[in-house]
Amino acid sequence: MQLDMLVRNCEMYLSDRTVLMDIGIAQERIVCVGENLDMAAHRIFDAEGRPVFPGGVDAHVHTATQLGGYLTQDTFFESTKAAARGGTTTIIDFCIPEQGQGPDLIEMMDERIAAISRDSVVDVALHAGLSRLDSGDIERQIREAMRRGITSFKMFSAYPGSVMINYGEIFQAMRIIAQQGGVAVIHAEHQDLINMATQGKNLAVASSHRDSRPVVSESVAVSTLLALVEATQCPTYFVHISSQEALAQIHQRKVSGLRVGAETCPHYLTLDGSLYDTMDGALYVCSPPLRDQLERTALWNGVAGGSVDLISSDHCCFGRSQKFRHRDDFRRIANGLPGVETRMPLIYDQGVRTGIISAYQFQQVTATGPAQWLGLYPQKGVLQPGSDADVVIWDPDRSFPTATTTMATDFLPYSHLALRGMPVLVIARGRVVWNDEDFVGRRGQGRFVRRRPVRQQDKSLVKSVGEEVL
Ligand code: URP
Ligand code: ZN
Ligand code: ZN
Repeated sequence: MQLDMLVRNCEMYLSDRTVLMDIGIAQERIVCVGENLDMAAHRIFDAEGRPVFPGGVDAHVHTATQLGGYLTQDTFFESTKAAARGGTTTIIDFCIPEQGQGPDLIEMMDERIAAISRDSVVDVALHAGLSRLDSGDIERQIREAMRRGITSFKMFSAYPGSVMINYGEIFQAMRIIAQQGGVAVIHAEHQDLINMATQGKNLAVASSHRDSRPVVSESVAVSTLLALVEATQCPTYFVHISSQEALAQIHQRKVSGLRVGAETCPHYLTLDGSLYDTMDGALYVCSPPLRDQLERTALWNGVAGGSVDLISSDHCCFGRSQKFRHRDDFRRIANGLPGVETRMPLIYDQGVRTGIISAYQFQQVTATGPAQWLGLYPQKGVLQPGSDADVVIWDPDRSFPTATTTMATDFLPYSHLALRGMPVLVIARGRVVWNDEDFVGRRGQGRFVRRRPVRQQDKSLVKSVGEEVL
């Protein structure tokens, strides 16, 4: 058999051991994984014993999205190109209609699927936001999304007047999502507690953003929402978990058999809440806010101990001028940080190189776990025959630039960090996208990925990567 591509001498990570393998690629898929494959190929790359990971899956990206009156300033070309630069070959973006303006969910899904097919460099799937319940009943919105291969549903318990819905609506939606074989994806902050903590705060300092969204606003929301998950049995994961208490509650329910999971983000693992006390504090505004060392340590322990299922970027490509526009009123500052490019290098440097997590755990939280939660596994998130040929050769010693960025922004929240470890070859569905410093990908080669309902791929969820790869 003539291969399109052969990647030799790949150090690959299984749950119980590390192996040295060759990977054969034909027609966009991995067709064989084995020792010293003796096969002809059009192109041969030598990983020289360096780590080789499945292309990363970033399950939380906001490309070209209207959020709280601001538009994130990248296109799907820019976000997917930057994603690939950092080793991510699949992103899961959103359709989140804002209340009372712009397109409704159905229009937005169709517009965004078209933009993805036209502009993307790597594959893109979508979550549907159940944020505009005024524009049609919930059941119809869920059915229309499922019909388009959009099987996960984002709901917000915060951001009133924009995308927030109430707990009764979330409960109703979870019941339908569970019936339809979908997954609920929840932003959990308790708005009543935020309102209370906002009273009397100095509007002109960014530290008020941190202080108005205390840990308890996350943990009370999580505990209420877990009760709804229990009552509906709707598979649910909580996005951007930032605190020990919330993570512990989710983990406890998971251990007792509930299908719940936790996502955290690189910024909650690597940046300190004292950044809000600096002159540039507005740059770091995101919700939930950055926390302290205690919470960060607990989150890292959660990644190492398995209570964090996925690490996503929550990428919001705002620029300085957007972040500073309303620095006189912290409630109006653009929420969110850029990070689709830096996600994997940050977790590798701060997690693997420091010895907190293994390379196997790194691939679990950056690729396999997200693919499993979002119904993309084993098409994505694993290096095994039959999977898409999303393959990343990683140089563990190469410095990752933090002074400049491929993302469409003029600031990087991580510019003070010296990171080591980055991709040197990125292959997305059998095509080289980044070869060292050179972008060799093409607009339009990424595809919109339709996903199946959860019920239909339950069986694949239980197999471990180690069982399947050889
Ligand atoms: O601050 C954040 N996280 N902005 C993006 C919107 C969201 O809540 O995910
Ligand atoms: Zn959120
Ligand atoms: Zn987000």
